[in-house]
Amino acid sequence: MNRVKAGDRVSVPFNLACGTCRNCTEGWTSACLRANPSGQPGAGYGYPQMGPYWGGQAEYLRVPWADFNLLELPPGTEHERDFTLLSDIFPTGYHGTELAGVQPGRTVAVFGAGPVGLMAALSANIRGAAQTFVGDFQPDRLALAEKMGATAVNLAEADATEAIMEATDGFGVDCGVEAVGYQAHDPAGQEHPGLVLDALVQVVRATGKIGVVGVYEPSDEGAATEDARHGRYDFDYGTAFTKGITIGSGQCPVMRYNRWLRDLIIRGQASPSQVISHELPLDAAVRAYDQFDKRTDGWTKVILHPGTTS
Ligand SMILES: NC(=O)c1ccc[n+]([C@@H]2O[C@H](COP(=O)([O-])OP(=O)(O)OC[C@H]3O[C@@H](n4cnc5c(N)ncnc54)[C@H](O)[C@@H]3O)[C@@H](O)[C@H]2O)c1
Ligand SMILES: [Zn+2]
Repeated sequence: MNRVKAGDRVSVPFNLACGTCRNCTEGWTSACLRANPSGQPGAGYGYPQMGPYWGGQAEYLRVPWADFNLLELPPGTEHERDFTLLSDIFPTGYHGTELAGVQPGRTVAVFGAGPVGLMAALSANIRGAAQTFVGDFQPDRLALAEKMGATAVNLAEADATEAIMEATDGFGVDCGVEAVGYQAHDPAGQEHPGLVLDALVQVVRATGKIGVVGVYEPSDEGAATEDARHGRYDFDYGTAFTKGITIGSGQCPVMRYNRWLRDLIIRGQASPSQVISHELPLDAAVRAYDQFDKRTDGWTKVILHPGTTS
């Protein structure tokens, strides 16, 4: 390692990438051909099938190819909370808007108001969207979306498709972001893996774009349908084709964006930390994950501090 030295403040992307393989040199560090010993493209911390790397919520982290992977941050402690989100959710939300083709004046529908969906809403603002709808069931998360200037659609009270079509005079939105994943559920809590993809195909206008950053697994025994257990997801592809909709998907190549998003933070143009609800010591991680998983009211995003105890 010679570019970064001990004591430097850095951000570690959740993807691990070698920097020199064919995909890395094209900027697709999310699909590095070398970092995952299984041979599958793409490696990451704490994620199934993405290599033997444990999660990043730890006192210390081993960072292979560190000169390549580490993003320098200014010294000191300023913007620490904002910079923390550069490892994953801020670039991931931004990637959703990139795949969805968000440009100045475009209308956007984001499904899911979890940390990733909220970061997509923030990113849509950064990219100059004219209006961003955010759909979810969780009032606390929707309130945050509204604070960011988005139009919240509470799916417990309204049908997303109807609400968005009505608000766009029946035209639909230019861009859709999927920030939920295959565990999408209905208002009663029943999972339907294709639910959000179906809704996006309905609300995105013909020839519009959808960015899918919510995760769809190639196999998961716990998935809600037999098909989904084998990575097969049932959604209205016929209508997507007929409308000529472009669908982009996948893990976020964090390094494609983190430098520029860092500089927006430094210059006061973006404050992703507004989604952080809790800051806890590392040993509270199990409890924090439990609350987050249950979507307990107010648990939007937790930051864990190594080196402190509760
Ligand atoms: N592609 C990537 O690189 C990448 C990176 C990080 C996270 N992710 C994935 O992004 C997704 C979102 O992550 P998160 O941290 O925000 O998770 P989260 O579980 O906190 O958020 C998901 C939100 O979707 C909502 N939801 C459930 N069903 C819905 C429906 N039918 N319509 C609308 N909203 C619905 C939930 O209420 C919840 O608020 C997950 O699948 C996560 O694994 C992907
Ligand atoms: Zn590589």
